[in-house]
Amino acid sequence: MMNPLSPKDRIIFALDLPSLDEAVKYIDLLKGHVGVFKVGLELFCACGPAVVRAVNERTSGAGVFLDMKFHDIPATVRGAIRSASTLKARFITVHCDEGRGLLKAAVEEGNVSGAKILGVTVLTSLSREDLVDAGIDASRFREPGDLVLHRARLARLAGCAGVVCSGLEAGMIKKEFGPDFLAVTPGIRGAGEDRGDQKRTVTPYEAVYNGADYIVVGRPIRNALDPVKAADSIAGEIERALKDREGKGV
Ligand code: C5P
Repeated sequence: MMNPLSPKDRIIFALDLPSLDEAVKYIDLLKGHVGVFKVGLELFCACGPAVVRAVNERTSGAGVFLDMKFHDIPATVRGAIRSASTLKARFITVHCDEGRGLLKAAVEEGNVSGAKILGVTVLTSLSREDLVDAGIDASRFREPGDLVLHRARLARLAGCAGVVCSGLEAGMIKKEFGPDFLAVTPGIRGAGEDRGDQKRTVTPYEAVYNGADYIVVGRPIRNALDPVKAADSIAGEIERALKDREGKGV
């Protein structure tokens, strides 16, 4: 079953910016060209709920992705998601690596306000070597994808709406969990584009062709000479990937 979202609705633009004024500039510029605005730690620490209200007030129905990547004891995460309920975020992220207690608390509280909880599996800035550094058992999880799948299983069992993973892993998520479990993929870069701190990167076409429902894009749009043109060109790639997937009956 194919998700009926339009190509542009599948773009989550990361508002990784230091102030409300800067964020508003990009919200006004990109509304109508992306489907969701992602508010992460930098912006939320700078201006808090005001930026979420700005997205809701200045756009006609763009979603808010509250990327707080909560990571704490279940009671604290539950409380944080309860506090966020007035913000009407479409998506809220929590880390998967503390196991089911945190995930279940998040999902139960998300159900109250209608926010979809996404489990962050393995950050797209991490490579195999970084996981070894972090003390992950390399004999059990030989590649980041093995750990992504393990954590996605926990997220699924806890009732999360989906996971955040790299576009390299979107295919296996869809294969194991089916079309309704969302694969949201950051670490998006054009061919040959500077990767910055990201390591497990793919192009917008590859991510969606592999099965991503949404792609998270920050710098490739924000740093483009013409951000609107960059977003529209990404939507074009998404459209091609969706057609090719359909053509192949994927
Ligand atoms: O600028 P760039 O496109 O790399 O931004 C990616 C965004 O996605 C950042 O806001 C980052 O916090 C977020 N993200 C990520 N990897 C994850 C989860 C979220 O890069 N696993």
